[in-house]
Amino acid sequence: MNLLVTGGAGFIGSHVVKHLVAKYPEYNIINLDLLTYAGNLENIGSIKDKENYSFVKADIRDLKEMRKLFADHKIDGVIHLAAESHVDRSISDPLVFITTNVIGTATLLQVAKEQWKDNYDNKLFYHVSTDEVYGTLGDEGFFYEDTAYDPRSPYSASKASSDHLVRAFHHTYGLPVVLSNCSNNYGPYQFPEKLIPLFINNIVHKKALPVYGQGINVRDWLYVKDHARAIDTIFHKGKKGETYNIGGHNEWKNIDLIKLLIKLTDQKLGRAAGSSDELITYVKDRAGHDLRYAIDATKIKDELDWEPSLQFEEGLSLTIDWYLENKDWLDSVTSGEYQKYYQKHYG
Ligand code: NAD
Ligand code: TYD
Repeated sequence: MNLLVTGGAGFIGSHVVKHLVAKYPEYNIINLDLLTYAGNLENIGSIKDKENYSFVKADIRDLKEMRKLFADHKIDGVIHLAAESHVDRSISDPLVFITTNVIGTATLLQVAKEQWKDNYDNKLFYHVSTDEVYGTLGDEGFFYEDTAYDPRSPYSASKASSDHLVRAFHHTYGLPVVLSNCSNNYGPYQFPEKLIPLFINNIVHKKALPVYGQGINVRDWLYVKDHARAIDTIFHKGKKGETYNIGGHNEWKNIDLIKLLIKLTDQKLGRAAGSSDELITYVKDRAGHDLRYAIDATKIKDELDWEPSLQFEEGLSLTIDWYLENKDWLDSVTSGEYQKYYQKHYG
């Protein structure tokens, strides 16, 4: 198996690649990543010399380069994670989300179709997507695999477009595909623009914690290593043409999560209980802020026997420990471009 993983220097991709490299010594795992601001070779430093692993810096939008890569490595399988992934950035700069998430995915699909056209046996294109394509929920209900798409941010609209293209290539050309839509991930190596690592970093540095709106939005959180395990399971056991929702059965209102995060981080830093509460700062709400996401993950449990393994407090505690022990990583990713982003977005 010559397995191409795209976006493997990013947050989720780096966990997926490390998981696969350790578990499948007989595979050749090729990690393709453009190393944008979100991609970092330090995330995958521990596997760089493994025999079953190689890294290629390239852009999924580059048709010529993708054709060459597929041919040179005789790619049989793809796990596609490369994307622009942050909602706030999609609001201020939507076009790169369209080129990377839509054109980039279409380019990979086209190359897989060309490369595999003679024989689809033992081939698979796995597209990793988000629950945000389903839109927003009120206080009740869940997202199911057949919930109608209703994306509401440029990020989720670009992911929805890519999902549609993957299904279109399956229905039109018979391309063997599988998809998953997952809830919010958290854990080590997440870029500190997303809620949990941003807030840990700010608590450490006693900086304001910018809570959007009233902090009442709800997200369903899953530990990233559980997502990596789900991706492995779906790639190997998922039914072609199917979609699997992945979630943590773990809904938190933002403000409640933030208070728990403050409590645990203060404890670990040896600060008095509640001393970082004063950092909470309510700021202008995100434009078009989706109120609630919640996944029904019954299908993957019943059909593929996958379930989350960690309780949230346990996962959050491991995550905080990792950020406190890896200040060098945090310092290196929050220099340069990050400062400009932070200044522009938060003032
Ligand atoms: P991330 O932003 O941390 O990583 C994305 C990676 O893609 C980076 O390494 C970046 O360098 C690479 N990349 C970006 N543009 C590229 C291009 N044109 N060519 C090649 N590589 C490029 O994202 P993440 O949080 O790890 O998310 C990975 C995937 O999972 C995305 O498709 C995202 O939509 C999906 N997802 C994320 C979450 C979440 O909570 N983070 C939840 C569900 C689904
Ligand atoms: P985020 O981690 O950006 O994930 P997503 O928007 O994909 O769900 O945000 C999680 C929640 O936290 C979301 O409701 C927005 C909110 N949030 C804040 O309140 N302040 C912040 O500074 C950030 C980044 C997010």
